[in-house]
Formats: sequence, structure tokens, C-alpha cells
Amino acid sequence: MLVSLFILATLTKIHGHYTSGDAPVYHPLPHFWTGVGFCPSGRIDHRGISSALSSSAVQMNLRQIAALPVGAVTHIRIHWLLELIHFLQYDSNGTPIYDFSEFDAFIDFLHDELRLSPVIEWMGNLGGVFLENPQQMPFYWEHFVKTTINHQLARHGSSKIANWRYETWNEPDLRSYNKLNMTAQSFLDYVQAVRRGLSKAGSLETHEGKFQLPMYRALRGPAGLFKSLQNHPLCWKLLDECNKSVKYCPIDILTFHRKGVNGTATEIINGSLALMAKIYEEYPNLKTLPVANDIRSEADPVAGWNTPREFQADVRYGITLISTVMHHLQAKVADGPLRRLESISHDNAFLSYHPYEFTQRTLLAHFQMNETHPPHSQFFQKPVYIALGMLAKLGNRAANIERVNMDASHSVQVLRSVSGGSGGPGQYMATIFLSPVEAGPQLTAFHHKYTLNMSIANESAFITELIVPYITDPYYVWKQAGSPAYPNATLREAMRRVQTPKLHQTGPIWAYNSEVVINSANIPLPWAMLLRVCSASWPKLRRPQQLAIAEVTHGEVFISWMEHPKSTQCLLSYEVWFKERDSQGLSVDWVLISNDWHLPYPSFHYAPGDRGSVNGFYKVRGVDVFNATSPFSQIVEYMEL
Ligand SMILES: *[C@@H]1O[C@H](CO)[C@@H](O)[C@H](O)[C@H]1NC(C)=O
Ligand SMILES: *[C@@H]1O[C@H](CO)[C@@H](O)[C@H](O)[C@H]1NC(C)=O
Ligand SMILES: *[C@@H]1O[C@H](CO)[C@@H](O)[C@H](O)[C@H]1NC(C)=O
Ligand SMILES: *[C@@H]1O[C@H](CO)[C@@H](O)[C@H](O)[C@H]1NC(C)=O
Ligand SMILES: *[C@@H]1O[C@H](CO)[C@@H](O)[C@H](O)[C@H]1NC(C)=O
Ligand SMILES: *[C@@H]1O[C@H](CO)[C@@H](O)[C@H](O)[C@H]1NC(C)=O
Ligand SMILES: *[C@@H]1O[C@H](CO)[C@@H](O)[C@H](O)[C@H]1NC(C)=O
Ligand SMILES: *[C@@H]1O[C@H](CO)[C@@H](O)[C@H](O)[C@H]1NC(C)=O
Ligand SMILES: *[C@@H]1O[C@H](CO)[C@@H](O)[C@H](O)[C@H]1NC(C)=O
Repeated sequence: MLVSLFILATLTKIHGHYTSGDAPVYHPLPHFWTGVGFCPSGRIDHRGISSALSSSAVQMNLRQIAALPVGAVTHIRIHWLLELIHFLQYDSNGTPIYDFSEFDAFIDFLHDELRLSPVIEWMGNLGGVFLENPQQMPFYWEHFVKTTINHQLARHGSSKIANWRYETWNEPDLRSYNKLNMTAQSFLDYVQAVRRGLSKAGSLETHEGKFQLPMYRALRGPAGLFKSLQNHPLCWKLLDECNKSVKYCPIDILTFHRKGVNGTATEIINGSLALMAKIYEEYPNLKTLPVANDIRSEADPVAGWNTPREFQADVRYGITLISTVMHHLQAKVADGPLRRLESISHDNAFLSYHPYEFTQRTLLAHFQMNETHPPHSQFFQKPVYIALGMLAKLGNRAANIERVNMDASHSVQVLRSVSGGSGGPGQYMATIFLSPVEAGPQLTAFHHKYTLNMSIANESAFITELIVPYITDPYYVWKQAGSPAYPNATLREAMRRVQTPKLHQTGPIWAYNSEVVINSANIPLPWAMLLRVCSASWPKLRRPQQLAIAEVTHGEVFISWMEHPKSTQCLLSYEVWFKERDSQGLSVDWVLISNDWHLPYPSFHYAPGDRGSVNGFYKVRGVDVFNATSPFSQIVEYMEL
């Protein structure tokens, strides 16, 4: 299959030649797409949510998401997270007393271990507190918000939780979410109460004799679908109130949920533009508020993530996600209804289940291995996971997106970005080339040559990596093997071999004004390519941090580590080293266990099988595009029980 595709492709003529313009205008590129979210499965109460979030499958899923390149995912939105807080009793004044221990334990895992910031959605019923006291609901909400924030401030300090985000009740107009049966009026009262609670938390403290103003915490909301006024009165009513007086509006960032009917990026952006245009037309006063979109790509608003769709299994979903980000970037830069776009987030951090391991809307494919004792979970990173990692490598300034026509209705998008001083040394350049998602292998292949002027320094190096059908597609490998419910060790390794980006080309650039020529003729459609160029004086790779070894099952571990944010742009790959402890407890020599793997993301699944044990010592280091290595991480020992 693959071979014939290549032959076919090489016989095809080059259809077009793109040459980059010399000096594009760059504008700031905040990485606004780094949020993900999910809803835990099971009962929505304290016991249900705490058992879901403490399951080893959910925790491994989160561990894998956190093992994307630094900055790829910064925030995670987990519905009903606050149900982890347990209502104990009322004190003598009738004020609720809460037990935070399970919430704290989960936050420690998420925040300290995985370095992900939560998006706290103020939703839940906490053992019935809010429903039992309908008249005092505002009072209870204000108290709950204030108590929760103060508790976190006391545990972590104000600066450590400065990146946390706060949002009102998710999609309150939907019955399935509005568990308190809030009316338009009680919803307004609730939002105001949450606002007061946030403002009063961490209230005036004296610090070295001086008064300190509490940090202002922005509130996002109303996380609405904004369909008709009749069907979604709560969210529209809030906008109505805010339009009357933005100064007294309880929300600071207007959040909405828009999706595509068929999951295309164009539909999502069209829907968002149309909605914001409508909101601004009716409520012109809201033009000053930043806006954020939580994106789902499905038809059914609630249960849609689990509907299996072929395109969500393979590279097409990865390409769609990048395309969605590019469209939002374009809309943000254009002086239109999305100019105040603050962030978008992807509703794809769910845990998939049998028999839809790959086809549900998730970043990872999840296999429940029921035949082992005890059962365990195996995870595979889908191409959309690679896509999020690629986006993290973009610089902090971007040029306008360029389009290279393939035919009348298809074009390759080119997004150029840079970081560092302009024209001088210490520069970094990252460009994403994106073929249209519709251009699947079944369509006529169009081929281009891309020439990029890499004028950043005379001593530099470049690297190109790909997301491409078959070659970076564990789903394809699994289907070829007959889609077994329990893939064996051989197949699992084969699937993991194709779960990282494909290294296309890398090498030094010796002269200023060098050009790189990329010929896409050999690449099956649809594809995405990331080109990075680093000058020799760009900051060198730092030592990997927080090396962690987590058990997958007997004889298998998931190894992950944290990257330093300012030094991994020029990373080529990681090396994972291991020193085994034999049955006598004696260790042998260090072995490079990741030999032959292209590992540009900070994790490695080690499953030696009959070749050895996982007991022993681990260390990792990075290798950059100049072939220079970083210092080794700390050595961590792992022992199976
Ligand atoms: C590349 O860009 C630089 C600076 O923008 C320009 O001076 C140079 O002429 C360009 N080189 C080529 C080969 O186009
Ligand atoms: C909310 O309303 C629904 C439908 O009207 C009803 O079935 C449910 O019992 C109500 N829930 C509460 C907690 O009042
Ligand atoms: C979605 O796909 C269906 C079937 O391919 C098509 O009939 C429909 O027009 C599409 N809808 C949109 C909004 O593109
Ligand atoms: C999105 O809007 C543009 C311009 O209004 C239109 O040309 C295009 O067909 C729309 N696309 C979809 C998928 O609705
Ligand atoms: C919002 O406020 C503007 C100006 O203050 C007013 O013209 C407009 O009618 C208001 N919108 C609604 C729906 O009341
Ligand atoms: C494995 O067990 C889970 C939980 O009981 C079940 O949902 C799933 O369908 C099982 N998988 C297979 C392949 O039977
Ligand atoms: C890079 O270019 C500068 C200016 O042309 C020159 O001074 C320097 O020696 C060059 N470096 C190398 C390694 O060629
Ligand atoms: C593993 O599974 C693959 C595909 O299902 C099969 O071809 C192969 O023989 C199996 N290997 C072993 C060692 O069982
Ligand atoms: C790094 O080493 C590889 C393999 O030895 C070589 O192909 C590549 O050109 C080297 N890169 C640099 C920047 O020297």
C-alpha cells in the first residue's frame, strides 16, 4: 500500500512552487489554544466523581496529556471537579463545613506533579447544600467560592495558583448540566454570588505592615451554546444584564461553545464569527470583553464526544485541529468579531472505551486489557496528540497565514513564526505547512515545492517533522492487524513506533540566506509539516526535570519528564538510558533503551518483554539539532512490587 503510494507520488509532476516572501510582517502570537477538557464518567456526586478521578486509567490519561511538549497543554477543564469537595455538616451558624482532602490530593497530582492548571468551573451540588437551601443559594455560593479559594491560597500561595482559571456553570441552559434547576433569575444571582466570592477571597492581608490588595481573579462565563433565546434564556439573560452596565458585569471573559456540524475547521470559525457578530449587534457594550471558545466537533451537544467517527482516529483530526487554530488566529488578527479572542480549548481529554478505542474524540486511544490479572490500561498517542505538540513549537510572533493553491478549492496553508531578536543571532523560526484535510489519499495528489529563505544566521540547523497517513498512524497499524480488542506486545510496540512525529530531514545550514527546499511529492495526503530553524546562539538544551516512572502493568512502565520552557525549541530527540538490576540486585551497564526511536516529546513507554526487566535505574537527556546533548536528568530508580 505504502510502497505503491510512494511510486505513484514520485511519478507525479510538481504542480506548484511556493517561495516565501523575504521579510513578512510579524505580529504577536500568544499561544491561545492550550486548553483541553473532559467530563469524568459515572455518577455525578462526591463518590462517583472521586472514584472516576482516582482511577488509574484517568490518571494515566492525564499523565500522558501532561507529557506533551512544554506549553502544549497548560489548562484542563474537568466538569464536576468540585464534587471532589465533600460536605461534612453545618456549623452552629448554619454555615457549611467542607472536607477538601480528596480535592487537595487530586490538585496536588494535577498541579504539582503534572504541572497542569485547572479551570475551576463553579458547578456542583456538594451533598445537596445548594438544593437544600434554595433561598440562601447566593449566600452559600459566595461562601463556598471564598472558602475554596482561601483554602488553595493557604496551601499553595497566591503566585502558584495565579494561572488558574475560573468559570461559571457549564452550559447552564441544558437540563443535563443544570442540576440545580436554576431559572434565569436564580442563575444571575448565582453568577453575582460567585463573583463576590472570588473578589472577597484572599481579602486584605497585612504583609510586613503594609496592606496588600487581593489579586483580582477574572471570572469566565457563561460557557453557553447561545442557541435561541427561547431555549437558552439563562446565558442570553446574563448578556442582557452585562449590556446594561459592563462595569457591574460579573464576568470578565465571555465564553461560548461553538462547534462544526461535520467537524470542519471552517464551520467552527464561521459559527463563532456569526455568533459574536450577533452578540455585538444586540449588545454593543460587550465589545470590550475578551472572548473564549471551548470547541467541540460534533453534532450532539452533550454526549457527542463518544460518538465514533473515523476521521477522529487518524491524521485527519490532527490536521483539523491545527487548521482550527489557524482559522482562529486569522480571525483574531483580522479586525472582526473575534479580535478579542483570548483562548480556545479543545474538548478532547476524554477516556475512550471499547470498541471505539480510536474513533472517539480523544487525544489518546485507550485499551482496557481485561485478560491480564489484574486488568490494566494501554494508551496510544493519536496523531492529534502530535498536532498539539507541533503547535507548541511555534514562536511568539507570526506572519499572516499564506495559502498555496492546489486547485480551485484546496490550498496548503503556511504559518511562519519566529522568536528572538530580528535578523540577529539567537533567532528561532518555526513554520507549519498544512495540507487540506479533504485532500485524502483517495483524491488526486497535488504536489508542491516549498522554498523557504532561512535568513536567521549563518550558523544554524534545521529540522522537518511530519504528521502523515500510515507513517504516523497507530490506528492504521492496528486495523492492518485485524483491530484486536487486546493488541499483543508485538503489535503494541508497532503502534507506538508510529505515534511520534516522523523525522523527515535535519541538518546544518552553513551560509546566511540559505534556502530549504521541501518537496511534498513523496508525502501522502493529508499531511502537516513542522519546520524549525535554530541559530547556534539560541539557548542550549537544559536538563530534563522531574523524571517519573509510572507502572503500566507488570514489566511495562511509562517514563515521562518535564521540559524547560525556554530551551527545547531546537530539540531533535530524547534519549532514555537504563541500568538494570538483576535478581541478585547487581546492576549492569547503562543501555540506551530508546535507540532507533524518534522521541521529540518528553515520554517513553518501556516494555522490554522477554528481553529484560524494568527494575533498575533510569535517566534521560535531550539531543538538539546541532547534535549537542543536554545534561542528564536525575537518576530515578524503579522497583516492581
Ligand atoms: C533572504 O532574506 C534576507 C533578509 O530578509 C534577504 O536579505 C535575502 O536577500 C534573502 N535571500 C534570498 C535568497 O532570497
Ligand atoms: C428539576 O426539574 C426536573 C424537570 O422539571 C425535575 O424532574 C427534577 O426533579 C428537578 N430537580 C430538582 C432538584 O428540583
Ligand atoms: C455535512 O455533511 C453532510 C454529508 O456529507 C452534508 O450533506 C452537509 O451539507 C454537511 N453540512 C455542512 C454544514 O457542511
Ligand atoms: C464560511 O463563511 C464563508 C464566508 O462567509 C463562506 O464562503 C463559507 O462557505 C462558509 N463555510 C462553511 C463551511 O459554512
Ligand atoms: C445594549 O445596550 C445598547 C446601548 O447601551 C442598547 O442600544 C441596546 O439596545 C442594548 N441591547 C439590548 C438587547 O437591550
Ligand atoms: C473490558 O472491561 C470493561 C469494563 O468491564 C468493559 O467495558 C469493556 O467492554 C471490556 N473490553 C472488552 C474488549 O471486552
Ligand atoms: C557569520 O557572519 C558574520 C558576519 O558576516 C561573520 O563575522 C562570522 O564570522 C560568520 N560566522 C561564521 C561561522 O561563518
Ligand atoms: C501479535 O498479534 C499480531 C496481530 O494480531 C499477530 O500477527 C502476531 O502473531 C501476534 N504475536 C504473538 C507473539 O502472539
Ligand atoms: C548530526 O548528526 C547527524 C548524523 O550523524 C548528521 O546527519 C547531521 O548533519 C548532524 N547535524 C549537524 C547540525 O551537524
